[in-house]
Amino acid sequence: MSQHTLPPLPYAYDALEPWIDEQTMRLHHDKHHQVYLDNFVKAVTGTPFENLTATETLRRLAEVPENIRTVVRNHGGGHVNHSLFWEIMAPNAGGTPEGAVAERLAGTFGSFESFKETFTKAAVGQFGSGWAWLVVGPGGSLAVTATPNQDTPLSAGQTPILGLDVWEHAYYLKYQNRRAEYVANWWNVVNWRKVGELYQAAI
Ligand SMILES: [Fe+2]
Repeated sequence: MSQHTLPPLPYAYDALEPWIDEQTMRLHHDKHHQVYLDNFVKAVTGTPFENLTATETLRRLAEVPENIRTVVRNHGGGHVNHSLFWEIMAPNAGGTPEGAVAERLAGTFGSFESFKETFTKAAVGQFGSGWAWLVVGPGGSLAVTATPNQDTPLSAGQTPILGLDVWEHAYYLKYQNRRAEYVANWWNVVNWRKVGELYQAAI
């Protein structure tokens, strides 16, 4: 992942309608994500982290100089989190996963439905701004976690393969305070094929 350019959305701004509206996607991608990226680049420019990928820098957050660590955590985290978020959504998506990730989900959570319940609880229950995650740990293990703000599981040694943004900027225009409805509808745009690829890459 280049840390200097905003990756374009891999689909049209209105492609996730009716579940996620065009105006939200425009603001979220073009404005919010751009700000995270700009502040991250500004912080690492002229440091030894300038030429690393953003992913690598966030994995090595503990090594980042203290005077820029908070900016890297918040804005670098915002950059990598949103870059993943755009990728794991798609139009005409949703449904259920297939292959290795599907097997591991069923093995870990009992069933896909019970995984969904666990993840939904993490997303709805995250107090304030943050994210819900499906992460890969040692041995290809899977776990559901949540993080506050823009903290990324990368900094905790995990590889996120599915993430749900529950900041109000992700849903407020369409759903106002109804986060649970946003989360329930979001399953309709999850790109399981991409999640499966990310799982393969992580193991
Ligand atoms: Fe966001």
